[in-house]
Amino acid sequence: MSNAAAASSEVSLRSLRVAIVGSGPAGVYSAAVLAEGDVSVDVIDRLPTPFGLVRYGVAPDHEKMKSVAVALRNVLEGTRVRFLGNVELGRDISLDDLHRHYDAFIVASGAATDRRLGIEGEDLPGSFSATDFVSWYSGHPDHPQDMFTLNAETVAVIGVGNVAVDIARLLSKAAHELRSTDIPGDVLAVLTQSRVRDVVIIGRRGPAQGKFTTKELRELGELANADVIVPPAELQVDEAGEAVLKENPAARRNLDILRDWSQRTPEGRPRRLHLRFLLRPIAVSGRTAVTGLELAPGRLGGSGHAIDTGERLHLPAQMVLRAVGYRGLPVPGLPFDKDRGTIPNSAGRVLRDGAPAPGEYVAGWIKRGPTGVVGTNKHDASETVRCLLEDAALLPPPETRDPDAIMALLHQRGVRVVEWDGWEAIDALEISAGLARNARRVKVADRKRLLAAAFAARAVAPG
Ligand SMILES: Cc1cc2nc3c(=O)[nH]c(=O)nc-3n(C[C@H](O)[C@H](O)[C@H](O)COP(=O)(O)OP(=O)(O)OC[C@H]3O[C@@H](n4cnc5c(N)ncnc54)[C@H](O)[C@@H]3O)c2cc1C
Ligand SMILES: NC(=O)c1ccc[n+]([C@@H]2O[C@H](COP(=O)([O-])OP(=O)(O)OC[C@H]3O[C@@H](n4cnc5c(N)ncnc54)[C@H](OP(=O)(O)O)[C@@H]3O)[C@@H](O)[C@H]2O)c1
Repeated sequence: MSNAAAASSEVSLRSLRVAIVGSGPAGVYSAAVLAEGDVSVDVIDRLPTPFGLVRYGVAPDHEKMKSVAVALRNVLEGTRVRFLGNVELGRDISLDDLHRHYDAFIVASGAATDRRLGIEGEDLPGSFSATDFVSWYSGHPDHPQDMFTLNAETVAVIGVGNVAVDIARLLSKAAHELRSTDIPGDVLAVLTQSRVRDVVIIGRRGPAQGKFTTKELRELGELANADVIVPPAELQVDEAGEAVLKENPAARRNLDILRDWSQRTPEGRPRRLHLRFLLRPIAVSGRTAVTGLELAPGRLGGSGHAIDTGERLHLPAQMVLRAVGYRGLPVPGLPFDKDRGTIPNSAGRVLRDGAPAPGEYVAGWIKRGPTGVVGTNKHDASETVRCLLEDAALLPPPETRDPDAIMALLHQRGVRVVEWDGWEAIDALEISAGLARNARRVKVADRKRLLAAAFAARAVAPG
């Protein structure tokens, strides 16, 4: 047993109080491990609703995946855990406040923004980040529900990761196929009026370098409303690609699927979903709005990177969605690695000038960058909590461990904290809204309505 572990077994974990910032998978998995160790935990989120990208990222038609929220809910309902929604670190509460009220904190704030392409025309009207589009159809309260119309006939989706695949699938489905999902009513109305005919997914490298997973890719070929079209000439594999295929059976399966599709004859379905490779976006064209995408075709030269052939291709499109990865945002007061969009850390211990900062930890996407599925955050959170518990005996004690003190402070600042009963009221409202649509729930996107629902129960409660 290490010295730190021996020391931590001497401090009573029951007396420890830990704040977790972020109620996505990384935050909730961290809370689960801490609560198992009898530590008491406050999970703070800037939104009135819990679950992070499980609620505001996982695609609405992936019902099975969405049900991971049940496991997360069980953790947040635990006796050693409190949910404090509508509380933002950096706005309502500071790092100093956390140090004063808790033995330690774990920041699990995810990666809320998008990576940029850095090309001309990227900000033209009609060019959007996947982050915005996903947040819109997921009913994220930061995104106005009238932010999107679907008047474009051709939508170009840049990137060949799972987010690009999610977006392309949703744009290719008929609106009635999404009626039984939790998509907000206003979003469903826009999808019902969609004029989209062609959705073009664009990869800058070859098919062996696609980042999508087989299950997600395969779904595209099973769409009732769209023909999937793949130009055979773009399914090139070079030496680097062969190495990938040899090491990674999933990449081999993906290529087999794409080769199979490249032999299909379109059947005249209402929409066409194209998968294109070896096309590097060099500009979004248009004077006042998007009219197309300028692409530099490449050929593979052995290293897995495309070599510019010097040719140029214009793809007419009225909407461009950039699905080229998410990016973490700095947390006021904590160090930040601008290149990686993460908080510098060693196994979850925040590093200040290269040395671990007492009581400060990170987990999830803000710790390791925006990759990995929900389950990846379980190991990640366990690693962070292991470090925290190893350090427990050495942590500087907070000014107070009274759980009411932080609530009093927030109250004094006029912060309207959404506690678990508030979320339950929102949950009930959404579930009842779903009845009319035969849906599991219909999401409420408007922040004011969310807060009104959360506090209505309190207003009528006796006393
Ligand atoms: C579009 C999309 C679809 C995905 N679909 C799937 C899928 O189908 N299956 C799968 O396994 N994985 C999927 N993933 C990956 C999965 O969602 C991530 O691995 C996971 O959500 C990352 O967890 P996290 O807790 O680090 O971050 P998040 O889930 O982003 O949680 C971060 C939380 O922190 C809160 N927060 C941020 N800043 C503050 C602050 N200052 N104060 C207080 N709270 C704050 C946020 O509101 C949020 O609730 C998807 C990812 C994306 C982007
Ligand atoms: N159903 C699911 O399980 C699911 C759903 C959604 C997301 N997720 C997970 O969430 C994580 C994030 O997904 P993601 O799709 O955002 O990211 P991602 O997997 O990293 O994919 C990003 C894509 O963008 C491309 N790209 C980056 N910069 C580019 C540029 N300048 N020009 C053109 N293309 C560019 C990348 O190509 P290069 O490879 O050439 O860089 C890659 O194809 C992933 O781990 C993903 O698996 C899972």
